[in-house]
Amino acid sequence: MKNAYNIYDLRELARRRVPKGLFEYVDRGTEDEVGLGHNIEALRRIKLLPRVMKDVSKRSLEVEVFGQKLAMPVIVSPTGSAAMLWYEGEKCLHLAANQAGIPFTMSGGASVAMEQVVEQIGRRAWFQIYLLKDESLSHKIVERAKAAKIEVLFVTSDSAVPPNREFNQRNGFTQPFRVTPGNVVDVLSHPSWFAQVVLRYMVSGGLPRYQNVPGDLRDKITGKPARMEVTPALDWAMFDRLRKIWPGALVVKGLMTAEDAKLAADHGADGVVVSNHGARNLDSAPATIEMLPEVVDAVGHRLTVLWDGGVRRGSDVVKALALGAKAVLSGRAPLYGTGAGGQVGAAKALSILRNEIDLTLGFMGCTDISKVDRSMVRLPKDMGA
Ligand SMILES: Cc1cc2nc3c(=O)[nH]c(=O)nc-3n(C[C@H](O)[C@H](O)[C@H](O)COP(=O)(O)O)c2cc1C
Repeated sequence: MKNAYNIYDLRELARRRVPKGLFEYVDRGTEDEVGLGHNIEALRRIKLLPRVMKDVSKRSLEVEVFGQKLAMPVIVSPTGSAAMLWYEGEKCLHLAANQAGIPFTMSGGASVAMEQVVEQIGRRAWFQIYLLKDESLSHKIVERAKAAKIEVLFVTSDSAVPPNREFNQRNGFTQPFRVTPGNVVDVLSHPSWFAQVVLRYMVSGGLPRYQNVPGDLRDKITGKPARMEVTPALDWAMFDRLRKIWPGALVVKGLMTAEDAKLAADHGADGVVVSNHGARNLDSAPATIEMLPEVVDAVGHRLTVLWDGGVRRGSDVVKALALGAKAVLSGRAPLYGTGAGGQVGAAKALSILRNEIDLTLGFMGCTDISKVDRSMVRLPKDMGA
């Protein structure tokens, strides 16, 4: 771990440690995987302007989002696989986020109970929900989040239909997990992962289960979740019903256009996340960073605009803030850290990002991250320069 200098190093450590099928589930995109490259390439094409002869001896990375102070403008994204990357990997992630002074967003498919996360990290525990075919079940989960005193709820809007991830079909790392000769060899050729994760679960009560659903639905996360299917019927009327029962900050995660963002504002959302689900759903979607400015222009004055998709360097975070995001969600970067080394690895991923954001700010002659703006970037012509 001490030789991991950047997020790519952590990715490589995770790749070596966990079975290939599991690593691919985390790392890869969908269909032809062009979207994955788009997210990252578009970020790389944006340039940040260096400024000189400014005193940058003191730099602040703090921002405020939904009334909470974040030690840096990063939020751990909801992702549903940490528990298989490391024993109690979700706990590793939320403790690392808390230590870094930033929020952790539990996935709706988390295998750690929301009450327990709130007990451990307080207001920094945020929650994400997929609305289910059984709307009353979704409402029960939301009521539970309210009772647990969760303050920020993300509704994921970009997953109305299941993703077409062919590599997962091939390698059997699907839900339910499919035992094939290939993945038996894959798992058995990672004996230390098998012992540290699978055997440890086995001796301490079994594989992780969904914990934020009513008792009879707490299936194993490797199985096919009973009655937990995401609804393809999510629309603004369903969102309105949710708005009525959720008093806290309500955020629509996964929209990409000014039109949808305006609708989110009209329907009472407090925030949006410009996101394409880490290029895991619609492969032909544009890069998220390309869409951020138009969403900010449309609704930045009405609600909090967050963004994610492709953060591998601190400079990516700075670019998104310069284009108007209030903060940035990061999914794979902390997951790579968790896969590489549990809580220590997750903390390392966040400290790498923090250090890179801080240095980027210094090179830009800026002392306060909340002051970065569009005058500090050069956009390529096809991105509205
Ligand atoms: C392995 C994995 C699992 C994910 N699970 C969820 C999820 O349960 N809910 C959700 O809203 N988004 C989920 N996402 C999407 C992330 O929240 C986030 O939008 C995306 O990872 C951001 O891109 P990045 O990984 O390049 O940072 C998942 C992403 C990954 C990589």
